[in-house]
Amino acid sequence: MENRTPYFELNLQAFKGNLKRLEYLQQEAKVKILHTLKSFNEPKVLPLIGEQLLGMSVSSLKELELAKEAEAKHIHLYSPAFKADELSFMQEQVDTISFNSLSQWRRFSFVTKSSLGLRVNPKLNLPIPNYCNPNVEYSRLGVDYVEFLEQYKKSPKEFLALEGLHFHALFQSSFQGLWLLLEHIESNYQELLPRLKWLNLGGGHNFTDDSYEVKEFVKRVQEFHSRYEHIELIFEPGESVVSSCGDFVTTVLDIVEVAGEKMVILDTSTETHLLDVAIVNKRLKVEGTSTEATAYFYTLTGNSCLQGDCIGEYFFLEPLKVGSRVRFKDMIGYTMVKMTEFNGMEKAKLI
Ligand SMILES: Cc1ncc(COP(=O)(O)O)c(C=O)c1O
Repeated sequence: MENRTPYFELNLQAFKGNLKRLEYLQQEAKVKILHTLKSFNEPKVLPLIGEQLLGMSVSSLKELELAKEAEAKHIHLYSPAFKADELSFMQEQVDTISFNSLSQWRRFSFVTKSSLGLRVNPKLNLPIPNYCNPNVEYSRLGVDYVEFLEQYKKSPKEFLALEGLHFHALFQSSFQGLWLLLEHIESNYQELLPRLKWLNLGGGHNFTDDSYEVKEFVKRVQEFHSRYEHIELIFEPGESVVSSCGDFVTTVLDIVEVAGEKMVILDTSTETHLLDVAIVNKRLKVEGTSTEATAYFYTLTGNSCLQGDCIGEYFFLEPLKVGSRVRFKDMIGYTMVKMTEFNGMEKAKLI
């Protein structure tokens, strides 16, 4: 019997392949790779990640609970802003914490068993869409590095507890992004590096893509360690842990012809399962479609009350009919974690 749609289908073999690649990088380059739970947090899969990666990066009580259940070896905690009561509970249970601003640093960098750091914004000039580019001029994510360095120079005593710096500046980046980040770090923080214990180089690394320059990565990290052996390098990818690992499967409920256009209504919606289509206008990959014109042109839409619930226009290789399955490719990261129950639609399960 066919599975009831909509559902997410994990390709376990591909997922294990990603973990193997990440494990290889950990071993060869002697770095810590943490899975970032905000990208994917299915409790039945997390233990596998917990076994193979050297930890998890969390941003809330809920994610901390999941990371602990999955027996994460190292837990890093970061949030754009912490609530005092939640932080006092969480700080006892994590290994490293980074604060996002000088005001949060001043308020919360008291003695704790975890190692404290600060997120610094390196303001790298990278071709990233604005919505997900932490480097933009008015970014609230991390202390502007010029401001941080000035403050450090003026009042080093304020940073006696500082053991790490956190930089999340990349997005779907090749090795080139890491290279730029390490150049930024090695040329701007010479005074600080000798006393730091760790650097968290964030997410946004395309580690599991076939084109990722693994050898260059290992070589550059070794070079860094030849100068700063005492600094542990931490990475916290999310998307690349689960990229190319599974699909989202839906069914055609109806096909409505309007002004000559064939509108397909699927048993999903942008607001419930495909939020990135609504937020960043993301173009999804659909199985059985072509970039060249075909005779079967359809507008895929959702089953919600919103007129704007449009997933996209596609040329299919075969005609669709009521009951046809429509399969969206590479849909595991940043989808399941964002599901809603708008219009009373059910959240889709992972199989
Ligand atoms: C601070 C931080 N670290 C890591 C990540 C994971 O990034 P990615 O999924 O692009 O690897 C994010 C994503 O937004 C983030 O905000």
